[in-house]
Amino acid sequence: MESICVLMPIPMNAYLERQLEKRFNLFKLWTVPQKAQFIKDNADSVRAVIGNATSGADAELIDALPKLEIVASFSVGIDKVDLKKCKEKGIRVTNTPDVLTDDVADLAIGLMLALLRRLCESDRFVRSGKWKLGAYKLTTKFSGKTVGIIGLGRIGQAVATRAEAFDCPISYYSRSQKADVKYKYYPTVVELAANSDILVVACALTEETRHIVNREVMDALGPKGRGPHVDERELVSALVEGRLGGAGLDVYENEPEVPEELFGLENVVLLPHVGSGTNETRQAMADLVIGNLEAHFLKKPLLTPVF
Ligand code: 8YV
Repeated sequence: MESICVLMPIPMNAYLERQLEKRFNLFKLWTVPQKAQFIKDNADSVRAVIGNATSGADAELIDALPKLEIVASFSVGIDKVDLKKCKEKGIRVTNTPDVLTDDVADLAIGLMLALLRRLCESDRFVRSGKWKLGAYKLTTKFSGKTVGIIGLGRIGQAVATRAEAFDCPISYYSRSQKADVKYKYYPTVVELAANSDILVVACALTEETRHIVNREVMDALGPKGRGPHVDERELVSALVEGRLGGAGLDVYENEPEVPEELFGLENVVLLPHVGSGTNETRQAMADLVIGNLEAHFLKKPLLTPVF
């Protein structure tokens, strides 16, 4: 397979790069000064593209690579891949589900605890020496809070299981009520928000779910309540105006840009898209990318096909 050319547009993971270089002729586009010219010169040899949550395969890149057979995403999210174009051209698409579910769900619980118990703020309080001047303020109990989950897929289910361990009543919204699920179902996100203390966004990003958390939903969640699923401008004004109790964020609309108005707010926890950011999980994600590429070029069934 050494002769098979694989294109990686941006750096993603050193282990993944090494494993790809061992098996394929890896083109690291970010190391090439004239990128457009490089793609033109190698258009007839690139048979695979590696994507992730930041850079996928848009229509322009797909059209520029006539021999492209597969887009293997180093992510579960595939909102950066032009799926319609891939389907039209019979290009296979794979992602990395399941292996990152625990990490992302763990972090969601971490964000809720950090937000309600003000973990980051009280850490800063100690580091600033303010404790010498008096005790830190009381915060908000997490256990027992009603947790509403938008999207009860693998990650949403894993968050629910963890929050249940904190005696949190769970309710959810998804396109349809799930037969075998004991949690309370709300047919609209607004109703879910109105009946939750904490709202968790755990659904895939699609045209349907872009800005699914809008002003109406934030107002329904209200001052007691906490990427592109969320209308970021509305989120900033809801927090600044006190219409929303708080927010714990790991993904944003225009990463790595984060609205600066959020930096001064104590009822906000800001993480740099580290949901799956552990050595164990990124290695497992990389192994899935490699496994899918090898399966494809050996004409075996893909490990984790999107299609
Ligand atoms: C990764 C992600 O951060 O899987 C996803 O959808 O957003 C993350 O796991 C990213 O893709 C790693 O490069």
